[in-house]
Amino acid sequence: MKILSDGRLKHIAIIMDGNGRWAKKRGLPREIGHRYGADAFRKTVEYCSKIGLRALTVYAFSTENWKRPEKEVKSILALLRQYVDECEKNIEKYPAYFHFIGDLAVFDDELRARIEKIEERTKDRPLVLNIAFNYGGRSEITQAFSQLMASGKREITEEDVAGALYTSQCGDPDLIIRTGGDMRISNFLLWQAAYAELYFTDVLWPDFNEDELDRAIENFYSRKRRFGGV
Ligand code: FPP
Repeated sequence: MKILSDGRLKHIAIIMDGNGRWAKKRGLPREIGHRYGADAFRKTVEYCSKIGLRALTVYAFSTENWKRPEKEVKSILALLRQYVDECEKNIEKYPAYFHFIGDLAVFDDELRARIEKIEERTKDRPLVLNIAFNYGGRSEITQAFSQLMASGKREITEEDVAGALYTSQCGDPDLIIRTGGDMRISNFLLWQAAYAELYFTDVLWPDFNEDELDRAIENFYSRKRRFGGV
């Protein structure tokens, strides 16, 4: 376990992939894979808070994931509701600023109101947890431009764009981890990924744990970041 006090690694983003394959390997339905995936997610949040990370962004549901069978989509939505329930119950002890990114218009008014309330009540927590739900990087950039156009701005700077993205409060990820063996970004944090270190592992998301995160962090620290310089 490495305490991240030197400021080099402040923000980790994770593409939590491989729940379906994890379940298939065990002859179980995909929904069970997501259930174990949600547990891996819970543990990851706890651990990131322990090691002093400032921001964690997780890809929980993409704008493309609606194409999946209804049963599977429902199971992910149910896990999310369950997690919202838990956060409400443990709000005093909850270690992170609970923050959703993505188009939340898909949630009903009641769920949205509950989420907003948790967001409001956890704002002061040292770890920002961005849960990307109904999220797509291109759509995020498009909404940022619409917002800037609506504000009447005629000249747009990179800072303006960054400020209109969902991540305006926590900045870009230093490290993006993808589990499950595929090596692509899948429309995740397209603008923010510009200088992120990428780490791919074959480990399937439900098997991801503290040791795996330590490994990714160790790998990050072994790299020399030049940000385009020499
Ligand atoms: C990718 O695995 C995973 C998802 C699309 C869903 C991720 C959701 C969770 C980890 C649960 C979220 C819960 C909360 C509480 C935020 P896959 O299904 O694409 O796996 P595969 O590539 O093996 O098919």
